[in-house]
Amino acid sequence: MDCFEFLEKIDNGIIDLVVIDPPYNMNKGKWDKFASQDAFFNFTYKWIDAVIPKLKDTGSFYVFNTPFNSAYILQYLIGKGLVFQNWITWDKRDGFSATKKRYTNGQETILFFTKSKEHIFNADKIRVPYESEDRIKHAKVKGILKNGERWYPNPKGRLCGEVWHITSERLKNKVNGKTPKLPHATTKPLELIERIVNASSNKEDLVLDCFMGSGTTAIACKELGRNFIGCDSNKGYVDIARKHLHEIEKQKKLT
Ligand SMILES: C[S@@+](CC[C@H](N)C(=O)[O-])C[C@H]1O[C@@H](n2cnc3c(N)ncnc32)[C@H](O)[C@@H]1O
Repeated sequence: MDCFEFLEKIDNGIIDLVVIDPPYNMNKGKWDKFASQDAFFNFTYKWIDAVIPKLKDTGSFYVFNTPFNSAYILQYLIGKGLVFQNWITWDKRDGFSATKKRYTNGQETILFFTKSKEHIFNADKIRVPYESEDRIKHAKVKGILKNGERWYPNPKGRLCGEVWHITSERLKNKVNGKTPKLPHATTKPLELIERIVNASSNKEDLVLDCFMGSGTTAIACKELGRNFIGCDSNKGYVDIARKHLHEIEKQKKLT
């Protein structure tokens, strides 16, 4: 279903978390092609306007895009009264350059906004390993003196920063330097979406993704005990997502 038709059917103020990986205007498929930059931003601002009323007052809004497009989207979301939280840089461990006149593109942006300052954020659920294991080994025993107090590392790791080093699906699936044709051209890594879902929702919360593609957000929600609602205008992608979800259900029944 088209996102605009879908969003009209949803009540306002019922969504805890929106995770949206929309078209980037990069011609990754027919769905990612626009007549002009203006046409792309008109479409982007239109879906943003349709999504914002669906959020609860405690809700969070994550939107993916290129850094360039994100600069415009950030301004637009601020204009709509949302609260800016982070500009997350996803370092894809992957890059492609069509020119030697500038640096290779290897990142995508994830803007993290909330409807208010009363949002959910489970910082302890998304801790990541400390970088300097040697220093931490020592600190576990003796602690480190900081401003006159002894600090001991958290056994679950350090608080998660806003630069995420997560290998892209394209790179993960390379065989002998070549990437086979994947079921969806822009599937996001599950661990990346799981981090967002863990951080910004609780069990049984309702998560929305109206550009769900191969269903990574739906899968993360299923794995983490959240409710999910979403759509994609391409039936083939919705079928792929359904298949993944059925497989997870089957596995869960077996264990
Ligand atoms: C970047 S992809 C999402 C990929 C997804 N995050 C994943 O991990 O598989 C964007 C998706 O938006 C869908 N799409 C584009 N325009 C749409 C529209 N107007 N309504 C609903 N879906 C749309 C495309 O079919 C595409 O699958």
